[in-house]
Amino acid sequence: MTDPLGGQPLPASQAILNPLSDSAIFLVLTVAPGSEELVHDALGDVSGLVRSVGFRVPSSLLTCITSIGSDAWSRLFDGPRPKELHVLPEFHGAVHSSVSTPGDILFHIRAQGMDLCFELASLLVERFGGPAAVIDEVHGFKSFDERDLLGFVDGTENPTGALAVQNVIVRDDESQFVGGSYVVVQKYLHNLTAWNLLTVEQQEQAIGRGKANNVEQADEQKAANAHTVLTVLTDADGNELKIVRDNMPFGRIGEAEFGTYFIGYAKTPAVTERMLKNMFVGDPEGTYDRILDFSTAVTGSLYFTPTTDFLDDPPPLPR
Ligand code: HEM
Repeated sequence: MTDPLGGQPLPASQAILNPLSDSAIFLVLTVAPGSEELVHDALGDVSGLVRSVGFRVPSSLLTCITSIGSDAWSRLFDGPRPKELHVLPEFHGAVHSSVSTPGDILFHIRAQGMDLCFELASLLVERFGGPAAVIDEVHGFKSFDERDLLGFVDGTENPTGALAVQNVIVRDDESQFVGGSYVVVQKYLHNLTAWNLLTVEQQEQAIGRGKANNVEQADEQKAANAHTVLTVLTDADGNELKIVRDNMPFGRIGEAEFGTYFIGYAKTPAVTERMLKNMFVGDPEGTYDRILDFSTAVTGSLYFTPTTDFLDDPPPLPR
């Protein structure tokens, strides 16, 4: 890949910018004390396992993006750290708060078909310390025309091509971290009973887009607490600061669980954290995101997504 800003070749990033998939599994693992060596060795096996499963059905486009949390980084690798890697802060507004929950390794597995995701997830867990290492597991599915369970098309304004690379891929760090990215995940549970009591117009005001036709509302029509008002950021020169999202719906009918798994990649966690601050605290303070009245964040964590080369041949364990 070539850097759209400098024209220089960029190191091989993981499959962050692949198109949305039909199925995904999000696995969050912890590294138990004493199992650092096992996990360190296992990291080098991930790309081989993806090939083993993915080659059987090439049309399913199986990918796995592996990311490492802040605490785990220092336990797994000697030498420098990605300069903005830290534990995700919590954001406390007057009405709603986000949470910061544990996570050492994040696997974002995607394919056209749950069978491949499931097979790869099983092999990864076996290799990374068994079921006890898994602290969160979400199986996401595509819902009709890329809708979330609130009924809106989700992902439309994702940047693509060179704009995505500019916004998502790290360039400004030590050479071994260039080509990486920062990823935030949050598991949201929706109160669909309350949401469905709103009229379609009220729901559209909460999002800032048409529900049936997915057309963005005019700026003057948008409510100050609309989701797409609070998550649109610009820098001092007026350029939009973007993230790449690959949210997936999930749920369990019998538990009345209806969710959105939020996942956002960016070249700096500061952008995603600013969006979270706007959503939870409000911008201006108090004008918080209307979707939070119907959606509760029950997990939240931040990771660094190194390049494929880094994972295939990571620095040694700390001495
Ligand atoms: C309950 C969880 C969430 C749901 C259901 C949701 C849903 C949506 C929907 C339907 C849109 C409009 C279409 C589009 O994707 O462009 C949207 C836009 C967006 N969302 Fe979310 N979202 C959620 C959480 C988040 C979080 C936590 C962030 C960031 C921290 C975020 C950032 C954005 C951004 C940047 C846009 C594009 C805004 C624009 O350029 O117009 N979302 N989201």
